[in-house]
Amino acid sequence: MTTIAFIGSGHIGGTVARLSVAAGYDVVLSNSRGPETLQDLVAELGPKARAATPAEAAAAGDLVVVSIPLRAYRDVPVEPLAGKTVLDTNNYYSQRDGDFPQLDDSSTTSSELLQQHLPASAVVKVFNNIYSEHLKALPRPAGASDRSALPIAGDDAAAKQEASAFLDAIGYDAVDAGPLAEGWRFQPGTPVYGDAYAGDSANFWESPGVPAGAERIRADLDAAKR
Ligand SMILES: NC(=O)c1ccc[n+]([C@@H]2O[C@H](COP(=O)([O-])OP(=O)(O)OC[C@H]3O[C@@H](n4cnc5c(N)ncnc54)[C@H](OP(=O)(O)O)[C@@H]3O)[C@@H](O)[C@H]2O)c1
Repeated sequence: MTTIAFIGSGHIGGTVARLSVAAGYDVVLSNSRGPETLQDLVAELGPKARAATPAEAAAAGDLVVVSIPLRAYRDVPVEPLAGKTVLDTNNYYSQRDGDFPQLDDSSTTSSELLQQHLPASAVVKVFNNIYSEHLKALPRPAGASDRSALPIAGDDAAAKQEASAFLDAIGYDAVDAGPLAEGWRFQPGTPVYGDAYAGDSANFWESPGVPAGAERIRADLDAAKR
């Protein structure tokens, strides 16, 4: 596997792209405004990066990251993602995304909505619970004592394996939170959402990022209440 594609290349998508290139992957970036608006990021990332349309990126990716405002999830190309693992970074904020009653009443999760939209793909929820600046700051080599872990959730074991291997390559451990229906355990408002990597949460935005290992992440997932 060599190419990581991005539907959405902003704070989180762009950060995962930087980590991917640093780990030796090729990346294909896309956004809503067109490839020409991504030239600065492509230039920063160098010869392993190019920009394309979302459909072209989806077709080119061996592994595809969806990192857009949740309200736009139905725009994600369906057919070119068939048979692929899709990493979903999205979160639901009604003030930004509008009201989704099935999320307001907790009858489903945002990643399950994306999975319904992409029935022939295997969605893995990941990267949604860490601030992009902390994600940028905390990669560590495998085995490092201060390596951080990220929770993942998904319904397909092979896809979760693929996601875990990708996390390992870019500098993170994975903690399996279970199927997508358990993804609420690391959605906004839970203990592991954001604060886990900020140390003193009173200074969240100023925090340079504080490592949080697998044990801490597991404990926070277990402590989550709906
Ligand atoms: N920021 C964080 O630290 C963070 C952390 C964890 C999770 N998240 C979640 O990750 C998602 C992305 O957040 P972000 O902060 O990275 O947002 P962002 O910086 O605003 O970037 C969003 C990206 O999505 C693209 N986009 C928007 N609508 C699209 C569409 N219909 N088709 C294709 N691309 C589209 C945007 O392209 P254009 O600019 O061309 O519209 C942009 O590249 C959100 O759901 C957010 O809640 C964010």
